Amino acid sequence: MSEQQPSERPNAVSNSSVLSAYDDHVMPIWKSLNVPVKRAAGCTLEDFDGNEYLDVFSGISVVNVGHGNEAVVEAAKAQLDEFVHGCSYVHPNEPVADLAARIAEITPGDLEKTFFCNSGTEAVEGAIKLARKYTGSKEVVALEMGFHGRTLGSLALTGNNSYKKGMAPTLNDVAHTAPPYGYRCARCDGDQCDASCADELERVIGSHTSGDIAAVVVEPVMGEAGIVVPPEGWLERVQEITHDHDALLVVDEVQTGYGRTGELFASNHFDVEPDIVTQAKGIANGLPLGAFTASKEIADAFESGDHLSTFGGNPVACAAALATIDELEGGIVEHAREQGEWLATELQALEDEFDVVGQTRGLGLMWGVELVDPEETGPQNVSPRPDSELAAAVSKRLREESNVVMGVGGYYKNVMRFQPPLTITRSELERAVSELRTALEHLN
Ligand SMILES: Cc1ncc(COP(=O)(O)O)c(C=O)c1O
Repeated sequence: MSEQQPSERPNAVSNSSVLSAYDDHVMPIWKSLNVPVKRAAGCTLEDFDGNEYLDVFSGISVVNVGHGNEAVVEAAKAQLDEFVHGCSYVHPNEPVADLAARIAEITPGDLEKTFFCNSGTEAVEGAIKLARKYTGSKEVVALEMGFHGRTLGSLALTGNNSYKKGMAPTLNDVAHTAPPYGYRCARCDGDQCDASCADELERVIGSHTSGDIAAVVVEPVMGEAGIVVPPEGWLERVQEITHDHDALLVVDEVQTGYGRTGELFASNHFDVEPDIVTQAKGIANGLPLGAFTASKEIADAFESGDHLSTFGGNPVACAAALATIDELEGGIVEHAREQGEWLATELQALEDEFDVVGQTRGLGLMWGVELVDPEETGPQNVSPRPDSELAAAVSKRLREESNVVMGVGGYYKNVMRFQPPLTITRSELERAVSELRTALEHLN
């Protein structure tokens, strides 16, 4: 049979055929950031029509060691040849055993035992169950504007009702305290911040809970809230208050872990020892895996049968995770730190140049550019007005005119997100910054 040319194939796949199949059969997707992908390598995505894009969003901060990382792909393929699934809680296997030991080595403090699941939201829910079992208390405190996932337990912790409309009731007994969002802090505007917003936790426990707290759950750098980096001393004070109430500090490193902030875990930037660390996203460079890790004492509160996941700790995903950690420790975390320092200076220049850039902030290769209307006050007296329309227009222009995929996030949906694969080269970063500057010049 002679080979058909792609254009002659009866059902040639194109961007429009994929999008139309999605419209017909896939439940709602994030329409505003819609780039079909056929294949990807490094920081480059290729769509079905042959267009290439520079990816500075990493599939929502996941492919930390680059799309198609050879070592990760090879490790996954090798495990596929051995066996794919046996339920890791019924059939103990080497990738899980090795990965759990490795995670005990690399996580902050004396965290020793890990439960493996499939996603971030499951990791957070499992961590809450473990905290309840260990402490015997039930209530949880999280941060206003924080994000922990979309299943009903994690959704209760998520401090943003735009994710909750029509979904209530969620988990009971969750209170929220002030986020360390200096730029929009009513007390200090971020200037001369003394991290006293951490003390709000004491007030919230006193006035919004029974006092029997199982866990305080925080992101060390808030991702979906708009890349909010806490001031010095904030996380340490949160830890102190949490422990004063005999609760566990759960640090949600789903987005910040695995090198994203220029350290293997963002907790390493602070003087804290989390009681439980949740992980997902970057852990296996795109293979579905989630995890939460605790000290032996805390972990042993779970008795056999207390928690289980059919697919959790899939051996192929765990093999990929081991290779991902090797790659990260082989120089990629350091590279991310160095590129992040350069990026910080470049983004500061944008802040100085454009009035609509309210603030730029981040750590490592997790940076946010908050867009505002400097002349206006937004709803609920938020000033300067968060400009979500400008952020959406910038993202659209970057995608359509510059072939750059950059996410938009933030509590007010007005923050451009730089979260590229950590392997990104200087010239790729230069291109992303320069295209962002051009978009701001055109749309401002
Ligand atoms: C900090 C944090 N926790 C939890 C989650 C939920 O992860 P997943 O989407 O894998 O359920 C996210 C996702 O963005 C996150 O950023």
